[in-house]
Amino acid sequence: MRVGFFQMDVEYENVQLNLEKLKGVLGKSSADLLVCPELCLSGYEISNRRKLKALSQERESSLFDPIEALCITREMSVVFGFSEKYKNKIYNSSMLIDERGRRFVYRKTHLFLNEKKLFDRGDTGFFVVKTQKARVGMMICFDWFFPESARTLALMKAEVIAHPSNLVMPYCQDAMKTRCLENRVFAVTANRVGEEKNTKFTGKSRITDIKGNVLASGKEKGESVMEADLKPALAREKRISGMNDLFKDRRRKYYVL
Ligand code: ACM
Repeated sequence: MRVGFFQMDVEYENVQLNLEKLKGVLGKSSADLLVCPELCLSGYEISNRRKLKALSQERESSLFDPIEALCITREMSVVFGFSEKYKNKIYNSSMLIDERGRRFVYRKTHLFLNEKKLFDRGDTGFFVVKTQKARVGMMICFDWFFPESARTLALMKAEVIAHPSNLVMPYCQDAMKTRCLENRVFAVTANRVGEEKNTKFTGKSRITDIKGNVLASGKEKGESVMEADLKPALAREKRISGMNDLFKDRRRKYYVL
């Protein structure tokens, strides 16, 4: 299976242009799964909820139809972050569109800083989608700070974690080595580059394997598309020695939830 990320510099508040950019990259990608950043249609530092609502889409929006069509004709899946409108709520969400054109939406569980003022708290929880090539789970940016996110996805038998991000702190990229190692999962962290208002995004998007090796890494600055080949089935094997299985050896009665 080939996975990739689009490390993107989002055009602030310009949904149409960002969609065009996304389509351009999708149309050329040879990945089976391409991951794009968090909120990559609207931008991140939106000043208030009224503005944010105007930049938000519903899950079924026809704006996504061309992306869906590309996924079907190119037999690939894409994951991208967007601001989701649903009734009177707005969620920081990511959408997975698979090679059959099915749409799955994950709503960010752990909101960061001002996101708490702008967005409603995600209510989907974590889940896994069985695409043609792999079992894929989603988490968004700051979710990484909570080991429970990746652990939950791995316990749900995710093989690849798609991780759209707008990282502003320098820790995640290296921390994902541990998240992958301790769960024996692959992860694709697609980060933003560039700046918005006073926020600077940290780039260095990563594809990380089940042993914590970095298979591909973007630079700190500048847009890039990178891909790597991996074997999702390796993530099904949780044995790490002749006598140790990462999941079977858990001693849940001693853990605090
Ligand atoms: C973040 O969760 N966007 C830092």
